[in-house]
Amino acid sequence: MDDATGIQFAAGHRAGPPKADDGRAVEDALAFYRSLPDYTPTPLVCLDRLAAHLGLGRIWVKNEGRRFGLKAFKAMGAAYGLCRALARKLGVAASPLTLAALTDPSLAQHLAQITCITATDGNHGRAVAWAAQRLGCRAVVYMPRGTTPARIDNVRMFGAAVEVIDGTYDQAVALAAAAAEKHGWLFIQDTFQDGDEAVPAWIMNGYRVLVRECLDALGDDIPTHVVLQAGVGSFAAAIQAELSACLGERRPRATVVEPTRAACFYRSALAGDGQPHPVEGDLDTIMAGLACGVPSPLAWNILWPSADLFVACPDRVARRGMRVLGNPLEGDPPVISGESGAVGLGLVFETMSDPRLAGLKQAMGLDPGSRVLVFSTEADTDPVMYRRVVWGDR
Ligand SMILES: Cc1ncc(COP(=O)(O)O)c(C=O)c1O
Repeated sequence: MDDATGIQFAAGHRAGPPKADDGRAVEDALAFYRSLPDYTPTPLVCLDRLAAHLGLGRIWVKNEGRRFGLKAFKAMGAAYGLCRALARKLGVAASPLTLAALTDPSLAQHLAQITCITATDGNHGRAVAWAAQRLGCRAVVYMPRGTTPARIDNVRMFGAAVEVIDGTYDQAVALAAAAAEKHGWLFIQDTFQDGDEAVPAWIMNGYRVLVRECLDALGDDIPTHVVLQAGVGSFAAAIQAELSACLGERRPRATVVEPTRAACFYRSALAGDGQPHPVEGDLDTIMAGLACGVPSPLAWNILWPSADLFVACPDRVARRGMRVLGNPLEGDPPVISGESGAVGLGLVFETMSDPRLAGLKQAMGLDPGSRVLVFSTEADTDPVMYRRVVWGDR
């Protein structure tokens, strides 16, 4: 469906919740993060004034902006994925895995010989570099053409070797996979193209911990709606899988949102044949973390049958979210939210305040009884871009 606002949407298949598992994998990821001395759940903030202003029951924002001092949620998957891969390589017991088991002095020499490699739009690579430095192994990070200097510096500051390749994010992933194969390096990717599915699955198990944190903070106050931004889809699928596992039929209605020029899930939903479809082109968007043209099949297999709606939206929506979150109504707390972090709230805001989006509002099922959960998945990871948007240059 198309709209004069530039926001497009397509219904999900709604075949039912993702297949439930026994939750053990998430318990292991949780135990791992609890073994990190600097692990602490991030805040779930309530925007009551904004909810009333927009005609909604509640709005919660899970604020990932301070996660491990890295300004984005990504370490919640990358650190676990890397540590599980290292444990597998070094024969360290992994269920549950603790940081102490891997930082045992007897392993230091082995770790120093290991190189891990990944491709990133910024945040995932930063988290891999951070974790690798902590463990004493080497990291190589490929980034796509056009990556901003701030995002490159964010990775380099943790000692990783950065290579900016002449191609998109998806091409960077393919090149990193080939380099891993050629040199015998550990490939720590948050998406799956082919080869070893264990690493992206571990990363998704780490992301699922965010849901445990939310539900602990919410108690019986269960959201009716969740809006999840997608790049390769691992984040959205992990959250959706865990909400389904924990809440079953009470799980919130899920809307997946992407930038128009990189809307591979929206495009796949529109095709309606149950298959993931890539989008091509330069994937140009200010939402750098979502500039991915190839859905992870692991994510697609969860999201297609269980998400209610897939939305593609222009950069304007992310900008709106950044401005609204950073400049709240009196009584609501401010949230510093970056381009990829703010698009969920931006979408809710536009949908509730633009009469031209009545069709989308109806499709999302938003009304005064709705209790909406969004994730601000990053803070100002690119401070120059953040200022440009909120101070109004762009
Ligand atoms: C801030 C931010 N939000 C959301 C995402 C989307 O995650 P995924 O690629 O798993 O869909 C990313 C990915 O890099 C990101 O950096």
